[in-house]
Parts: sequence; C-alpha cells; structure tokens
Amino acid sequence: MLAEARPGDNQQEMARTARTPFMRLALWTTALTYALILVGSLVRASGAGLGCPDWPRCFGSWIPPMSVEALPPQFSVDQFNATRMWTEYLNRRLGVTVGFFILATVVSAWRHHRHEAHILWPTVAALLLTGYEGWLGGRVVAHELAPWIVTAHLVVAIVIVQLLLYATAYAWYRRPQASSGTSSAALPPEDAAHRRTLALTIAATIAVTYVQVALGTQVRGGVDDGLDAGVARAVVLSTVGWWDGAHRVLSLGVVSMTLLSLLVVWSRHTHELLVRRWTHIVVGLAVAQTLLGAGLAYVALQPAPQVLHLSLASLLMGAQLVQWLVVRWEAAPDA
Ligand code: HEM
Repeated sequence: MLAEARPGDNQQEMARTARTPFMRLALWTTALTYALILVGSLVRASGAGLGCPDWPRCFGSWIPPMSVEALPPQFSVDQFNATRMWTEYLNRRLGVTVGFFILATVVSAWRHHRHEAHILWPTVAALLLTGYEGWLGGRVVAHELAPWIVTAHLVVAIVIVQLLLYATAYAWYRRPQASSGTSSAALPPEDAAHRRTLALTIAATIAVTYVQVALGTQVRGGVDDGLDAGVARAVVLSTVGWWDGAHRVLSLGVVSMTLLSLLVVWSRHTHELLVRRWTHIVVGLAVAQTLLGAGLAYVALQPAPQVLHLSLASLLMGAQLVQWLVVRWEAAPDA
C-alpha cells in the first residue's frame, strides 16, 4: 500500500535535502575547479601551454599584447600566436578566479564551521594547495611542460577537488536535519563491518587510480615528445615505452577493483540507495574511461578524446571519493 502524503511532508523533505550556504559555495568552487581542469586540458590539447612564454605575466605584461607589433623587444615574433596566447591567458585568469572562490570557501568555513576541523582544515589545505598549484603552473612553463611537473599539476588539482568534496560531504552529514551521522557506527555491528570492508576496497581503488593517473600523464608526456620530434600520430604510442604498457595493465586493476565493489554492493547493500547510486556512477565512469583509453590506444589518438580522457579521470576520482564517504557516513536506510 502506498503511504499517504501528509501536510508538511513536503517542507520536511525540502529541509532534509536543503544545502547550507557553505555547501553551495563549496559545490560551486568544486564545479569551477573542474572547469579549470577541462580548460587546462584544452590548453594542452591545442598546444597553447606556452602561448604565454613567461609567468606570471604574459609577454612581459598583465594584459597580453594585442598584436605582434606590440611585442616587447625581448620576445621573438616566432613565440607569438594570438589564439594560443589568449587561450593560455584565459586559463590563467580562470585559475585566479578559482583561487578567489577557494578563499571565499575558507572564509565561509570559518564563519559557519570554525569548530569543525573536518570542514575547516580541508578547505584551508585546498587554499594552500591552490597557491602551490599556481607556483607549479609557473614551473610547467619554465620547464617547457616536463612530464613530471604536468603529473604533479594534475594530481594536485584532483586532491583539491577531493578536499572540497570531503568538506562539503562532511557539512551535509552534520546538518541538524540530516538523518545520518558522520559515522556508520549507528548501523548494526554486522552491517558496519561490511561497510568497513567496502570502504577499504574503495580507498584501495582510489590509491590505485592515483597511480594510474600519474602513469597516464607520463604516457601523455611521451606522446607530446614524440609528436614534437615529428613522429606520426598513428604510431607515436609505440615510442612511449614501458609507461604505456604499465598504464594499460593497471587499468585492468582499476576496473576489476571497481567491479569488486559493485559485486559487494549488489550482494550486501542493495537496499542502501545512496551507496548503490554512487557505486553505479563510479562503475559507469571507470568503464567509460577504459573504453575511451582503448579507443585512444587502438583506434585514433585525437585531441578531443584526449581532453575527454583527462576530464573523465578527474570526474572519476571525485566520484570515487564521494562513494567512499557515503559508504562511511550514510546511516542505515529507512526501514
Ligand atoms: C580507469 C582507467 C584509466 C584512467 C584513470 C586513465 C587516466 C589517464 C590520464 C589521467 C591520462 C593523462 C591525460 C593527459 O595528461 O592529458 C591518460 C593518458 C592516456 N591513457 Fe589512460 N586512463 C585509463 C585507462 C586507459 C586505458 C584502458 C588505455 C588504453 C588501453 C589508456 C590509454 C591512454 C593513452 C593512450 C593516454 C595518452 C593520451 C594522450 O596522449 O592524451 N588509458 N590516462
């Protein structure tokens, strides 16, 4: 029999799912950070990384030159390409905007949650890492896109997203109207033990995916080196060496660990809506990412799927963290 809706149910549901000002800001900041990762990968795919040959200025000034005639004498005409320069310049401005949003998120965390270490400190860490990321961006330019710096740049961006998602999820589970706490201790002991095993599996998958991302950026570095040396796109992967083989093999590790968590959820947690939903999202992203990677490796290594492969990697790692937090913090489902 269907339960009858009672007056006030609607308001209760709205209160239960309402987001606090801190959570809204943190979510906007996370979305902007993702946009920055996307623009950053577009910059790379279009070869605009050195569109501004210096840092933090662009061709020696804060507003780039409007034409080649306006170039300061220390720069050569060969270094100037208007499209690449503006793409890279916009990327840097978006980076500054994200920096301000993260600062605003820290201020909001201080105003609303200064006594909650799990909210305040992740946002402070995200701010410090954003400063470090800006400095690393400068190193990327100074070292002409050396692969290990590009790897560090991407890994730090993913850590920033995960810190913001952690603080947001914590705030969500700490709302007075939340039906769940920030621990699964309220579950019956047997269920809590299953949750712990599942959380461990997901944490291990996250660690392996970090290694996979680092390997991927090394593959990308090898691809860029090959293309710069004049190797044809169709065969450039064969010049990358063992990084490529390791990246392909480890993708089997990421996918099988993800599928293992799916099996565990299907066998023991089918009635837990959020656990199931986030596991399905993670499985979908991991499978899509693997198919896309296979397309890059065996069909065609084209710029558009290259951008998508990197963006999906960062989305996958954000979703994995949320999946892990939901498994740890979502209390037992309503009976
Ligand atoms: C869950 C699985 C995977 C993850 C998380 C992942 C992640 C990544 C990342 C982060 C990059 C660097 C992108 C960049 O810096 O622009 C990359 C590059 C690459 N990956 Fe994957 N990858 C996965 C699976 C695969 C698979 C299964 C293959 C092939 C069979 C593959 C082939 C490649 C290739 C060819 C590149 C270089 C692409 C380029 O030059 O832009 N990946 N991967």
